[in-house]
Amino acid sequence: TDASLTVDPHYAVGEVKRQLFGGFVEHLGRHVYDGIYEPGHPSADADGFRQDVIELVRELGVSTIRYPGGNFVSGFAWEDSVGPREQRPRRLDLAWHSTETNEVGLHEFSTWLEKVGSELMLAVNLGTRGTKEALELLEYSNLPSGTDRAEQRIANGRTEPFGVKMWCLGNEMDGPWQVGHRSAEDYAKIATQTAKAMRMLDPGIELVACGSSSAHMPTFGEWERTVLTHAYDDVDYISCHAYYEEKDGDIGSFLASAVDMDRFIETVVATADHVGAVRGSQKKINISFDEWNVWYQSRFENVDKIEGVDNWPVAPRLLEDIYSVADAVVFGNLMISLINHADRVTSASLAQLVNVIGPIMTEPGGPAWRQTTFFPFALTSRLATGRALQLKLDAPTYVSEQYGEVSLVDAAATYDDEANRAAVFLVNRSTEEAVTVTVDVALLGEISLLESHTLADEDRNAKNTLENQERVSTAENTSARIQDGQLTITLPPVSWTALGLG
Ligand code: AHR
Repeated sequence: TDASLTVDPHYAVGEVKRQLFGGFVEHLGRHVYDGIYEPGHPSADADGFRQDVIELVRELGVSTIRYPGGNFVSGFAWEDSVGPREQRPRRLDLAWHSTETNEVGLHEFSTWLEKVGSELMLAVNLGTRGTKEALELLEYSNLPSGTDRAEQRIANGRTEPFGVKMWCLGNEMDGPWQVGHRSAEDYAKIATQTAKAMRMLDPGIELVACGSSSAHMPTFGEWERTVLTHAYDDVDYISCHAYYEEKDGDIGSFLASAVDMDRFIETVVATADHVGAVRGSQKKINISFDEWNVWYQSRFENVDKIEGVDNWPVAPRLLEDIYSVADAVVFGNLMISLINHADRVTSASLAQLVNVIGPIMTEPGGPAWRQTTFFPFALTSRLATGRALQLKLDAPTYVSEQYGEVSLVDAAATYDDEANRAAVFLVNRSTEEAVTVTVDVALLGEISLLESHTLADEDRNAKNTLENQERVSTAENTSARIQDGQLTITLPPVSWTALGLG
């Protein structure tokens, strides 16, 4: 089976922004406690952070990190998480039926971010709180000095402001599970009011309004239209969230998950542009795809087991999905979708980072290791630089139960003319057959293959586990070669590939 692709540096989709390779850390399960923070661990530094995890996060190449939730943020009082640690209250986290000790808060997390080299993106609570508390947090974070909240930050040990640029106006407010869930109209009003006030305080910030928590919500489309009709002039982004899983053994649809992500993005862009057109506005609203991943939500690992008014564990094991090769192939394909929409998806956050549906796993007192999904993220983040290119892809198709006829191969390519570096990302969705792809790279001029990495396995269910931490990784694809401006490569069944050219 053959496919072909033409890479033309003259036709760009848009610049691939570093913010596309963002992550997300929520106070959820063992993400913060026993994940990034474990003072008793042999690798812990003086601040109690695991250095083995810090190294892996650095290797992953994460730009911005969204914090502190997620569903958690809708019941969170940020003031609880600052000031002397011994005075911080223990609080109920209704979202995950847990106890939040507040041992790690804004200051500690920001210290950790400096260690991993990532930037902070904050979400404000629009579930149980509103404009006033959002303003106080913004003042605490971004005002240099001279007012109550700014001086409080300084007294708490941080002279320089945190300088947080990106702010989420709540989280998944369309979801009935959200503490403080609202109608589109109600959310639109509070988000717009809060956005206006926050910008009065700091005009340099970027604001993200909540879009739908999935393209399959009953309010999808109408939610975005209503929210943007109110908030268009006051926000920069509308969010998208999407999680995919293999359902009922339907691997064909699962492998085509990126088709759904493509449609989701294009529909939200169309809706945003419709609102802009009605207003006669020149402004464009972009997408912050601030939660995306493969997640076996149907299993909802352990969440339902924790109940009872007397049962609020600290950092229980929740949502600790272990990813397979097939999961990582879909994951890599979702990154292809993000790159192919780089003109309008200008920020994204992988949900999440450590232990909780994360590419990195840890054991208390024990090792930290890379899940299968670690590899496509790290390679795409490192190789996708410059501009995303429009591709002409010809490939066989197959019929999937959920999305109809879909391409057997998916691809994205980037080109950085200053550095003369190109990258091609490819997925073979066939469960049976290898596909040979010919990539016409003649228009890139003198260019050679610098590196090739393919993620595939005889057993597409293979995983990296505590017992076998390095079972799966990428390998060089020795079939790849360039001759006379034509790159050929064979992609094994259910595989994801990254090629670096220069
Ligand atoms: O990432 C896990 C959860 O998924 C987040 O808390 C929430 O925003 C989404 O529903």
